[in-house]
Amino acid sequence: MHAGPNSVGGALDAPSVADSLPPATQSAMDGSHVLFILSGSIACYKACDAISQLVQRGHRVRAVATEAALRFVGAATLEGITGQPVAHDLFAPGAALDHIGLARWADVVVVCPATANTLNRMAAGLGDDLAGALLLAHDWNKPLLVVPAMNPAMRSHPATVAAMARLQGWGARLLRGTSGRTACGEVGEGRLAEPDEIVAAIEAALARPARRLHVLITSGGTAEPIDGVRVIGNLSSGETGALVAEQFARRGHDVVLLRARNARVPAARCREETFSTFAELDALLDRWLREERFDAIIHAAAVSDFSVQAIERAGVLAAPAVGAKLESDVAPVLHLRRNPKLLDTLRTRSRNRDVCVVAFKLTRGADDAAARSAVAALAGSGRADFVVHNDLAARPDQSGAFPAAIWRAGGTLVARCADRVALAAALEQLLVSEPSKPEVANGAI
Ligand SMILES: Cc1cc2nc3c(=O)[nH]c(=O)nc-3n(C[C@H](O)[C@H](O)[C@H](O)COP(=O)(O)O)c2cc1C
Repeated sequence: MHAGPNSVGGALDAPSVADSLPPATQSAMDGSHVLFILSGSIACYKACDAISQLVQRGHRVRAVATEAALRFVGAATLEGITGQPVAHDLFAPGAALDHIGLARWADVVVVCPATANTLNRMAAGLGDDLAGALLLAHDWNKPLLVVPAMNPAMRSHPATVAAMARLQGWGARLLRGTSGRTACGEVGEGRLAEPDEIVAAIEAALARPARRLHVLITSGGTAEPIDGVRVIGNLSSGETGALVAEQFARRGHDVVLLRARNARVPAARCREETFSTFAELDALLDRWLREERFDAIIHAAAVSDFSVQAIERAGVLAAPAVGAKLESDVAPVLHLRRNPKLLDTLRTRSRNRDVCVVAFKLTRGADDAAARSAVAALAGSGRADFVVHNDLAARPDQSGAFPAAIWRAGGTLVARCADRVALAAALEQLLVSEPSKPEVANGAI
């Protein structure tokens, strides 16, 4: 069975410990048993990709295929990627009790792709083939993940809609794909979710964190409009925020991601809203922090220090021409307004005043002493509990390397991380092991 997160306890207080932590991409390598049931859809080829990823990530996968699924993907392919024979015959000699044995063996059961036919049969409790019998014998204490794939008309048929609702009522988790063009050429809901999303959902279903955190993450860079087509922006890709969001979601935490519109989209599914400008991010933070009680905020967004207040052309001042395009005949003078620091207000705006706040600090050429004082200045007055520090001088090329260190607000070095993946893993382990503070009534601080 999938274990909880690696216990690090006080070990994270020691510098450099993150170097020895398992990378996030290997965090599930403890060999969970995944029973993967395929039914007859063109999307079986995508399911093969998901199965292959699961095996590479250390899980043991047993594939079960309906007769129709084997019309789309060969048993040899499934056997090749899982290293196990494919089960498909309820009455196979020597395997007649597979429909009970495999159900008991599994830590998680996945039906992917789930055809309209299989969904309807599952909801009706039919067990006249191996897939159906396995699902009838399902132990509802274990997660059952259903990943539908079908033509939009089949998807919206009342029987299919009712079957999905019935399965969810029994405790099945449904992973919907995005709307778009399906294999039959029609556009609408029904596409299978992408393989990396399927893997992330399976690992999230398996994960049992010691403490399930409610986490708000900001990611990507703001863009401050000059006119309808020009902005003052920054080079943030949103890579760090996306990897951190993925890590927390995959480990079973409840993640809300506020993401810049052009920032990297995480592979794991989170509740997500997008922003473009400082003002939009500010408004989103305001709403989420007041409406939900978060345990942690990881503020990784690169927020512009300035917004355009006015544009001066030939001595005439005007507001930013959002919705128009300024002519380029006259060089404009931009009058900038300093934006308030969002970090200053995260705690005071939060329903949970004891929320654990993680801030980010970028320096250039800072040694440990300089980093320590930069961290102290940023985290001062209780603004942040931890600061992730990275230095431009440590990323001299365009390699994407991102060596970072996590500091406690008091100035203790918590962990050094070789890259973003290690950083995401270290943050998750750190926040899970951080003792929660006793709840203080709003306004008491
Ligand atoms: C080329 C082709 C593609 C198909 N794709 C789908 C599909 O994506 N989703 C679906 O529900 N049925 C699809 N079907 C229909 C199913 O294969 C059919 O309903 C079959 O009986 C399902 O059996 P099963 O649910 O036991 O696997 C497809 C059929 C064909 C011939």
